[in-house]
Amino acid sequence: MTESPVKRLSGRGRFISFEGGEGSGKSTQIKKLKERLDAAKLRNIVTREPGGSPGAEIIRHLVLSGMGKLLGPDAETLLFAAARDDHVRTVIQPALAQGSWVLCDRFSDSTRAYQGRLGRVPPALLNAMQRVTIGDLEPDLTFILDVPVEIGLKRAAARRGSAAPDRFEAEDVKFHHELRDAYREIAAAEPERCVLIDASADANTVASSVWAALRDRFFVSTPANEASPA
Ligand code: TYD
Repeated sequence: MTESPVKRLSGRGRFISFEGGEGSGKSTQIKKLKERLDAAKLRNIVTREPGGSPGAEIIRHLVLSGMGKLLGPDAETLLFAAARDDHVRTVIQPALAQGSWVLCDRFSDSTRAYQGRLGRVPPALLNAMQRVTIGDLEPDLTFILDVPVEIGLKRAAARRGSAAPDRFEAEDVKFHHELRDAYREIAAAEPERCVLIDASADANTVASSVWAALRDRFFVSTPANEASPA
């Protein structure tokens, strides 16, 4: 039997979120991390926000269509919160409780960065919404994929092709610079939970950084490639 070169620390699944600006490569990195977890025989699910559950996907459609923007930043925040509430209750918590790892494309730091920093939504509203939606369910680890704005926007445009930019992709370059600053500040403020990853390199190099950081946090590495309980 092939043993995993790493040792799992507890029976509960781990909650890992990926954050970053447009074109930071989150979905590619999530896919690559999933492959590693599968190879290590660690049960996992991949999900995303806004969305991830049937109810939240409906709200996703509303928000990304630009409807939320018409309502203003506070109401848009409530829409993200409603989506998160459903997603957490119906998908994330049950998966973690069953011992599955959860890889989530965006989570509460997106609200902090997009609605808080860029939408100027007051911290009191953000905190209240966070209490209601996630309580103390913080991610165990958050990867903040950091890429210069020009590179990120180029990647996003290439991925989009001839399709129209969505609600947030359509914002101006200043918006994306401020977004990057917001994420870098979150990473600096919460070094225990967040790892800032240089995502300007090629996808395999970035994936190696992600895996190395995850191993450091959750696993005990072994000298040779053998499993060795610690
Ligand atoms: P998506 O197409 O998933 O973009 P990306 O590939 O960049 O993740 O669109 C999600 C958009 O919603 C993204 O621009 C960020 C925004 N968003 C918020 O503004 N607040 C939030 O709480 C979340 C989860 C996302």
